[in-house]
Amino acid sequence: MYALVYCVSAVLLVLTGVMQSYFSTLIALIASSKLHQKMFQRVLHCPMSFFDTTPVGRILNRFSKDMDELDYTFPFQLGYVIQYSLAMTGQMVLVGVIFPWCSIALVIIMVLIIIMDLWFHAGIREMKRYESIARSGIVVQLTSAMQGLSIIRVFGKQDIFIKKFHTYVNEHQKCHMLFYATLLWFAFRVEVLCSLLVIITGILVTYSPYITPAMAGLALSASFQVTQIVTGLIRNKSDLQARFTAVERINEYAKTLPQEQSVVSLKTPVPREWPPDGSITLKDVELSYRPGLPLVLKGINCHIKGGEKIGVIGRTGAGKSSLIGTLLRLMEIDSGSITIDGIDIANVPLAQLRSVLAVIPQEPVLFQGTIRYNLDPFNEYTDEMLWNALEQSYLKEKISLESMQLEAVVDADGNNFSVGEKQLICLARTILRKNKILLLDEATAFVDVETDFKIQKTVHETFAECTILTIAHRLNTIWDSDRILVLDAGRTPNILGQRKDLLVVSIDMFYILRVEAL
Ligand SMILES: Nc1ncnc2c1ncn2[C@@H]1O[C@H](COP(=O)(O)OP(=O)(O)OP(=O)(O)O)[C@@H](O)[C@H]1O
Ligand SMILES: [Mg+2]
Repeated sequence: MYALVYCVSAVLLVLTGVMQSYFSTLIALIASSKLHQKMFQRVLHCPMSFFDTTPVGRILNRFSKDMDELDYTFPFQLGYVIQYSLAMTGQMVLVGVIFPWCSIALVIIMVLIIIMDLWFHAGIREMKRYESIARSGIVVQLTSAMQGLSIIRVFGKQDIFIKKFHTYVNEHQKCHMLFYATLLWFAFRVEVLCSLLVIITGILVTYSPYITPAMAGLALSASFQVTQIVTGLIRNKSDLQARFTAVERINEYAKTLPQEQSVVSLKTPVPREWPPDGSITLKDVELSYRPGLPLVLKGINCHIKGGEKIGVIGRTGAGKSSLIGTLLRLMEIDSGSITIDGIDIANVPLAQLRSVLAVIPQEPVLFQGTIRYNLDPFNEYTDEMLWNALEQSYLKEKISLESMQLEAVVDADGNNFSVGEKQLICLARTILRKNKILLLDEATAFVDVETDFKIQKTVHETFAECTILTIAHRLNTIWDSDRILVLDAGRTPNILGQRKDLLVVSIDMFYILRVEAL
């Protein structure tokens, strides 16, 4: 009979153990996937000012260590807490049944532990938070050192960076040790309280006249078990609570990160074929990057007709790239309005607006993968179209020499291409998209003069019907433009002039640009 009971209990134990592990892991994983998804979506739609002010390492920390806590550590801790709670209840009931008087002692001890836990709880969470913040420091230091590795090596400053890294690691270790020391501090006090239960059971066993030796043994072993289980439970519960800071940190990103403004007011939906002409009107456009920063664009007014080719010039920092950013609504303007073919772009859904503007940014961006993936990430074009685009951007020869042709590997950040080549790949990507409005932000700044000239010719031929804004420092890059927009410290002092106007009105600026172009 006893053997049967033991067998059934053992089987039940295994079954419930497996079920508990399965369900706690499943629930925790579903929750963490949802949180990850929300956080990822939120980060993807953050305004650029968030990325300007937040180090990449800090974001990476949330996606790596905090997610790891949620995916891996959290389910186990949760499982342990459930397991310990059930075991503790069982042992307590056992002691209470054998010695009902013990129940009073049990209740008093539990109340004391709960009071201590409440008091201790605030501290342990703060410790964990400090630890997470200190870890961000390490990741930020590591990512910035990796980004500037070549510069650090060139100037032989490895030692400074190693020392700095050690400082951050030490800071983190201090917080980490403090966190575990605090857990031990608490566990020790819980153990002392629980040993009171063993003493009381011992006294009752010694002085109780009716208790059988078997019951006495059972009560004593159960009270020992309670001590161990309560200590384990409290330790795991505190650890679990502390790890909740990871949930808090992820939740903060998932819920409170600022988002790019979508549509302000959309009375009538923007037609699909918008913009038919590609005319752009800027009216008193003012922009500052963040509240409190000075205005970068100070009341820009201009009208660009559909299909016009506009050269944009101005000194470094005059606001040329910022102008492009406002057209793409990467930064929302402070006042004024920008309309494309009569529709205020503030009323156009961001995805639609950005899909009708083709841009080659000042810093070309390539993704890790292949040439094909970089030109045509959604597999929309034929091989012939891809080769044509490469030919038009003077890259066909180079890519056809690669053994893998269109499948040639592109390293992270396109590091196996020169900056000029990266710009040309971006140009090929733009040629494929054939948008109505083309924004070139020094798209050929790193290309030799001869290729630059040829590319300008190609662009003007391929995009003959399109509106093109070409920002350039080299005057010959924009020499073929219909009109030239001169930006001076965020203003348009020389209006949109014909080239001859520019020569007359802006002789100073022209001189400066000529010198820069040399
Ligand atoms: N992310 C940013 N946050 C805050 N200020 C910025 C940011 N980007 C640019 N600025 C400021 O805006 C001003 C205009 O910068 P912008 O990049 O538009 O100049 P630019 O005319 O394109 O210069 P360049 O010819 O060197 O490319 C600069 O004074 C710069 O300090
Ligand atoms: Mg610029």
